Amino acid sequence: METIRIAIDGPSGAGKSTLARSVAAKLGYLYVDTGAIYRTIGYYAYTRGVDPGDEDAVTGSLPEISVALSYGEDGLQHMQLNGEDVTEEIRLPEISRFASAVSAHPGVRAFLLEMQRKLGRENSVVMDGRDIGTVVLPDAQVKIFLTASPEARAERRRLELERRGTPQPFARVLQDIRERDWNDTHRAAAPLRQAEDAVLLDTTDLNFEESEAALLALIRERTGGA
Ligand code: DC
Repeated sequence: METIRIAIDGPSGAGKSTLARSVAAKLGYLYVDTGAIYRTIGYYAYTRGVDPGDEDAVTGSLPEISVALSYGEDGLQHMQLNGEDVTEEIRLPEISRFASAVSAHPGVRAFLLEMQRKLGRENSVVMDGRDIGTVVLPDAQVKIFLTASPEARAERRRLELERRGTPQPFARVLQDIRERDWNDTHRAAAPLRQAEDAVLLDTTDLNFEESEAALLALIRERTGGA
């Protein structure tokens, strides 16, 4: 049976993960959060004292790193780093910066590419990230570029951090979002950009339900109502 691949790219905090997870559950597809894979490498650098901006140091440690992804009974994506479950740890706010820095190295992206492609070959997926429509799954049947203003994204992120028990002031979150936007769009290797055949969905003025409805409508239109 042919698998369906839905690629959702966009900047940090656009609501990709929440929306992609919910849409995948409704369609009965696997949800793949590729940011979590980069976060796992970022977490490795963080715990081993490796400078995430030092390309040679980071790529030099790749042979010691084994990254695996599995789905728990709860259906949630779990990440393993050298056999240890790091699903919770990779969500620490400081790991965002490490993930963004390590993801700029071409060696890291090459190291993780096949793992992501394999998931899309073997399953119908909703995969979210930065380069899914452009590099990982260029043949995806549906490509969506999900975005929102930096302020709207910062406010959503601030609320999420508060819910997780790691609150941060709005100004700090906004600055962090702007820095990550800059890093993710200006790196030479697979920078964040909208694929030519992707549909733009701006959720600045949409709530979750409205964003989800818009996303599902786009998917149904492009997959012939599947
Ligand atoms: O989606 P996220 O914030 O969890 O992703 C963490 C970092 O990983 C993000 O700053 C950029 C990087 N990333 C990437 O380069 N390519 C992807 N496909 C997904 C994430």
